[in-house]
Amino acid sequence: MNNEFINRRHFVSTLGQTSLAALLGLPAMRLLAAPPSNHELPINCAPPSHGTAKHISFNSSGAILPRKSVWDLSPAEVTRLQKAYQAMRDLTVSNPNDPRGWMQQANVHCFNCSGGYDPSNIEIHGSWWFLPWHRCYLHVHERILGKLIGDPTFRLAYWDWDTYPAHATVPPPFMAQGALLDSFRGATPTSVIPARITGPAHMQMVLGTTSRQAFMGGSGSQGAMESSPHGPVHIWTAETSPSQNPVPPGCFYPDMPGGQPVNQSRSGCLDMGVLATAAQDPVFFAHHSNIDRLWDVWAASPGSQGNWTTSAWLNHPFNFYDENGKWIYITVADVLAQKEQSNLRYTYQPPQTTPSPAASTTPSASASPKPTPSASPSATKVKPTAKTKPAAPLMIADEKGNTPVGTKPHVRTIKMPETHRENLRSLAEGGPRTWLLHIDGLIASPTESVILDVYVNDPSASPDTEIGPTFVGTFALVMPGHPHMHEVVRNAVFEIRPETAAMLMKSDDLSVTLVPKVVDGKEPEKSTLTYKKIYLSQE
Ligand code: C2O
Repeated sequence: MNNEFINRRHFVSTLGQTSLAALLGLPAMRLLAAPPSNHELPINCAPPSHGTAKHISFNSSGAILPRKSVWDLSPAEVTRLQKAYQAMRDLTVSNPNDPRGWMQQANVHCFNCSGGYDPSNIEIHGSWWFLPWHRCYLHVHERILGKLIGDPTFRLAYWDWDTYPAHATVPPPFMAQGALLDSFRGATPTSVIPARITGPAHMQMVLGTTSRQAFMGGSGSQGAMESSPHGPVHIWTAETSPSQNPVPPGCFYPDMPGGQPVNQSRSGCLDMGVLATAAQDPVFFAHHSNIDRLWDVWAASPGSQGNWTTSAWLNHPFNFYDENGKWIYITVADVLAQKEQSNLRYTYQPPQTTPSPAASTTPSASASPKPTPSASPSATKVKPTAKTKPAAPLMIADEKGNTPVGTKPHVRTIKMPETHRENLRSLAEGGPRTWLLHIDGLIASPTESVILDVYVNDPSASPDTEIGPTFVGTFALVMPGHPHMHEVVRNAVFEIRPETAAMLMKSDDLSVTLVPKVVDGKEPEKSTLTYKKIYLSQE
């Protein structure tokens, strides 16, 4: 009797079959249908049992080789990528318990987003664990793929959706028949990611972030990179036009005789749109390789504060099975700065295609900040001006309970105190970017993805409002999809830019507008999202 079976039985007997089925939005029958299809929302995604983890052994003499844009792979490299994923898929069939197989690999992701039943309830999303955990995961995954095809020179490829719009489609090799194709995707070969998500104006703003907390996330707060572009690219890959083709409830968990959805119209909201299944789609790893590459671009940019230096962050270990099926750990410090290259043995080769010039002349891109190539974000090192005392946090909303955001733009307004207005002057004049807008206690149902554009002093902001001084950022959440999880809690942080401060300091009022959207830019049909607090703080 394997672990999964024990856990499933345990779960069923604890909750009762009917209530479990109700939670899952399924006919109770589905639970009795024993062997799981080759594609499913995992009921339990815990790793196979293991002893104590040893520190990973890095191959310090292997070649340092480029991870390339999928578009820059040679035909032979595309074939190698397909072969590697085919070997990984085959391993799931020949030995489902081998931790290096495709489904077990996908379950590593599921488990680490509160997907397990063990009390540790690991969650590497929504905080400063997001970037380093995924970097470690990519490394181990890459070593496994290389090992399975007996090729230590194998490197992952990245999906540079920020090479806009040329590469803002699912990379063609992942759309071709074969091991890279996932039928549980809504995006078609001609779907293009909306400019608002990965176009130059938005990417410039995200990569121009100065604050490490606002970019990377902090201890318990979610940063810009994780929120958007990361989240909406997941959601879009699964379901490109939800407003035209509304997602039926529970669509991510269809009945699948023979591994295929009965109702093909449901197939668009699977895999990448749900954290529990996202890594079942091989494009997940190309998406995350790009997130990982852009993290390096940000950390090296002159305007950024660079990585956290807190020892609690640096010394934190993450556990994985390695390419030999050994249970190991990697620390955050193992994969940062020069260690990234010396331990992990890759460099990111910049995309050989530059973004189309047309992309930087689209209306949304003409809004500030000025687009510049993503390899060199516009933020310039700010000269420290005379240090003013940080202003006290300014509460904009502070509720005892949870305030629903609803499906329409939601506005909160206060009077702007004179002291704060004065204090914003140095930022407006190009001083250090020390002001952050926080939205704390954002809570959503585990079966609902969220995209929320946030504006200040723009009370009539709508889903169509363009990127400009009033826009502070987008909070996004990819549904975890775990039926046993009650709710998802996040704290969002946004950096206030100089042009935003310049506008705020001229106003008597301070308002924050939360604009809920679906991925194609329209108003959502429903929303369970609530929040507790909105405030401005100065670091
Ligand atoms: Cu762990 Cu892209 O999510």
